[in-house]
Amino acid sequence: MQRLNNKQSCVPPKFDAINRMRTVKILGIKTENCAVKTLTFKDKLCAKAQPGQFVMVWVPGVDEIPISISGISSDGKTCITVHGVGDASNALNEKQKGDVIGIRGPFGNGFVTSKGNVLVVGGGTGIGPLMPLTEQLVKCAKKVTVMSGVKDKENLLFLERLNELCSCVKTKPVFTTEDGSYQTAGFVTDQAKKMLIKEKFDMIYTCGPEVMMYKMFVLSEKHDVPIQASLERMMRCAIGLCGSCQIGELRVCKDGPVLNSEQLRSIKSEFGKFRLDATGNKIKQP
Ligand SMILES: Cc1cc2nc3c(=O)[nH]c(=O)nc-3n(C[C@H](O)[C@H](O)[C@H](O)COP(=O)(O)OP(=O)(O)OC[C@H]3O[C@@H](n4cnc5c(N)ncnc54)[C@H](O)[C@@H]3O)c2cc1C
Ligand code: FES
Repeated sequence: MQRLNNKQSCVPPKFDAINRMRTVKILGIKTENCAVKTLTFKDKLCAKAQPGQFVMVWVPGVDEIPISISGISSDGKTCITVHGVGDASNALNEKQKGDVIGIRGPFGNGFVTSKGNVLVVGGGTGIGPLMPLTEQLVKCAKKVTVMSGVKDKENLLFLERLNELCSCVKTKPVFTTEDGSYQTAGFVTDQAKKMLIKEKFDMIYTCGPEVMMYKMFVLSEKHDVPIQASLERMMRCAIGLCGSCQIGELRVCKDGPVLNSEQLRSIKSEFGKFRLDATGNKIKQP
């Protein structure tokens, strides 16, 4: 069979390179909490990623899963922060320094930075993709307020890094724990609600469980503040072909994962309510 070269292929050459699987060595592993680890690797294309973009990570012999980029450093190193929830994510978190994994990407769009007064709201591991975004925001935005909500003290993430980043802009991150074991008790959305009553924001950025992001979307509409939310859906191809990540008219891998207010309005009947399962059936969100 004759193979198509880049010129003949319908896939643009640059995109072809992004979608090609590269093997990378794990250069470092940091245990963030009981279920979450941050893995570092070097890849030329990922070094140019935008905050909010994700990679497809192939765990040899197990599966390929989408994971957001949680760190992009000037020395070309890229970080991903993984919550072990099933076969592939747990296998990834069992990897050792020097082990090899496969990478495709970076895929999707990134967050668009605002120069105004911004509110960043993360839930659980969702704070991961908000970290490189916050690093950019502290350099360009007028004011940055970061809120991070987790179940309990044991699940806190990036405490030190968030304190450092916020100190650059003379603010303090707000941490919430559902059981009150660290700082404010309750849901992060309740603190965001109070903040939105007190202050006028120019942009909200959010990533976390969909029920939390849906609450943030409702708050953003009520207070007339634009929002950018990073959505999660089942993903296979990551290039807009298979339809696994379909929500309304959108394909999260290609049109997202970061969706703006207008796009979220267009998927209002499904956002926070339904998703496609591994077999493509529409199921209710837990
Ligand atoms: C764009 C994007 C970015 C993501 N970024 C991160 C990240 O930075 N860190 C992180 O830990 N996780 C992230 N995820 C979620 C991660 O991809 C899933 O947790 C992973 O695919 C689960 O695979 P598994 O084999 O470990 O678990 P499985 O055994 O396949 O499933 C375990 C549970 O996770 C659910 N699940 C499976 N696949 C997905 C999926 N693609 N999205 C949402 N839920 C799923 C299943 O319904 C099941 O409840 C992201 C997902 C997307 C779509
Ligand atoms: S994962 Fe295939 S279309 Fe999005």
